[in-house]
Amino acid sequence: MKTTITAIKADIGSIGGHICPSKKLLTSVENYIKEYKKDLIVDYRISYTGDDIAFLFTHFLGKDNKDVHKLAWDTFKYGSEVAESQGLYGAGQDLLKDSFSGNVKGMGPAVAELSFKERPNEPFLFFAADKTDPGAYNLPMYLSFSDPMYNSGLILSSPMSKGFRFKIMDVSHTENDRLIELNTPEDLYDIASLLRDPERFVVESIDSVDSGEQAVSVSTTRLRNIAGKYTGKDDPIALVRVQGSFPATGEVLAPYNIGPYVAGFMRGSHTGPLMPVKQNTSVSFFDGPPVVSCAAYCVRDGILTEPVDAFDHPYWDQVRTRISEKATEIRKQGFFGNAMLPYSELEYGGIVEKLDKLEQQFYNRDKDVLSEVEETDMVS
Ligand code: F6R
Ligand code: MG
Ligand code: MG
Repeated sequence: MKTTITAIKADIGSIGGHICPSKKLLTSVENYIKEYKKDLIVDYRISYTGDDIAFLFTHFLGKDNKDVHKLAWDTFKYGSEVAESQGLYGAGQDLLKDSFSGNVKGMGPAVAELSFKERPNEPFLFFAADKTDPGAYNLPMYLSFSDPMYNSGLILSSPMSKGFRFKIMDVSHTENDRLIELNTPEDLYDIASLLRDPERFVVESIDSVDSGEQAVSVSTTRLRNIAGKYTGKDDPIALVRVQGSFPATGEVLAPYNIGPYVAGFMRGSHTGPLMPVKQNTSVSFFDGPPVVSCAAYCVRDGILTEPVDAFDHPYWDQVRTRISEKATEIRKQGFFGNAMLPYSELEYGGIVEKLDKLEQQFYNRDKDVLSEVEETDMVS
């Protein structure tokens, strides 16, 4: 029998702007799940990162299971009412479609799922990011799964030396899912060529070439693509199976010390460094910086251990200090250049109106001077 881990997260309202959900909201959704989970799910955990609430469910019903997704959807709907009753900001903001159609994918919430026959021991990691989009995982996943500078197992472990299969989605293609599958090490440069553009190409999953087993699932939803307008950044989640023929936990965590600049931050329209934070951390500086949390678990027969907070360790304190400095540095240049996202990625429409108005005031020097001369010639 296969165990399935379903992680689903959404922003359904938060205190004081987009900071974090209220205690009442968290307790209410937990009580709702307890009451309605029945025999559907085996175990669950609830956490938050910034203004997003994440559910982690285990069950034996496989990926994309309608009833499991419905439980998450109904809980978020119920939670939105609680958020509204408390006057929380952005109540229900990530629930973009009115009625449930069988799968929460494409309806607003972010989804990542893994289904597998449990190994004799089954460790995995659950990542949740806020104030950024799914491409934020491109660099850490690339380094953990394909670079021996971060993953010594690629040299030291025979199964891992066979490489990994990356499934990459073109998230700007909105009509349907457009995907490509490439293998390491042979397609490394092609993979890098795509992943360098995280707003367009996003790692969706990674499988072990040796076992064919899936190691990674990343939520690839882009809210803007669903809604056709800004509704909040996509705030992606990811599940990663670790150890054995997969990278060790430390090899998966290591690249998060870079704090790479990613899209998101204030109004989903800026560039900021991705900061690894403890679970249940709020956001603050300039509605950010973009944050990512990581809970480590083991699972047996669908029963989860307690979470261990992977970024709650003295090592990460100095990383956070350095990344705070990166955030301060880029904020010094305000709207200028790379500090703000290119036009195509801006999440607010106000600038379009400004530029449309300015468009009317532009003139072409040569052409306009020429036509003035022509007019004078004609008169004389
Ligand atoms: C970013 C985010 C915030 C808001 C900002 C303005 O993901 O959620 O930065 O964009 O606080 O919020 P609104 O437009 O809701 O007033
Ligand atoms: Mg929000
Ligand atoms: Mg959020």
